Amino acid sequence: MPEVLVLDSKEDGAALVAGHIAALVREHPSTTLGVATGSTPLPVYSALGEHASGGLDFSRASAFALDEYVGLPDGHPESYRAVIDREVTQRLGMDPEHVHVPDGSAIGIETAGDRYERALIAHGGVDVQLLGIGSTGHLGFNEPGSSFASLTRVKTLTEQTRRDNARFFSSLDEVPMHCVTQGLGTILRARHLVLLAFGEGKADAVAAAVEGPVSSSMPGSAIQLHPHVTVVLDPAAASALQHGDYYRWAQDNKPDWQGI
Ligand code: F6R
Repeated sequence: MPEVLVLDSKEDGAALVAGHIAALVREHPSTTLGVATGSTPLPVYSALGEHASGGLDFSRASAFALDEYVGLPDGHPESYRAVIDREVTQRLGMDPEHVHVPDGSAIGIETAGDRYERALIAHGGVDVQLLGIGSTGHLGFNEPGSSFASLTRVKTLTEQTRRDNARFFSSLDEVPMHCVTQGLGTILRARHLVLLAFGEGKADAVAAAVEGPVSSSMPGSAIQLHPHVTVVLDPAAASALQHGDYYRWAQDNKPDWQGI
């Protein structure tokens, strides 16, 4: 069962997660972070930026992104390479050599998934993986129907996800049709999963992922198969949970020694 923590606001949730990551990097400077894009993790990166400005050194840490669009021109500001560079690498002062994003170039795309899997394995995997969840229930870009054993590969985005992400582009037509994404099997290899969700629009997907049946029709439910998962929510994202009262009770009575 994932641990579910409901914080008063997304800023409070982000501060909690950033505090945990900062402590990890302080203790193990070569920690490997799994980083997500989209809107959800931005307050975490901003809170981590404050730790970096306060003197925390991320130069020995590494990062692996979850996914990338296929076929955007090099340097496109909404390519996940560019987003991660802006929001994570530069903000935290990470060494760009240590920050990995799947290669979404159209040329050589057939091998992009295998190359990324090999890089992840050679590196020794991810210590803490940040995850958002899509309105379709996707983790990374693993849309409904993705195998729980899947590895990094090219996938087709659903129309719903293309519409959800059109806000980052000038028109829906500009949103790529394909992506390279870590598979659910890849994500499940990370040593700790931290799923963040904020706002009412995520409430149904969160409830289905945390409490619903484990099914490839709800990719988010893959988290129920992992031994160490922390789900960090604001009250709106937690509003459809059936056992919300118990999660709050457990949270209020959490032993001091127990981190996330
Ligand atoms: C991003 C990713 C996606 C997003 C999800 C939620 O790397 O893999 O799964 O986490 O689409 O997006 P936001 O946070 O924009 O609602």
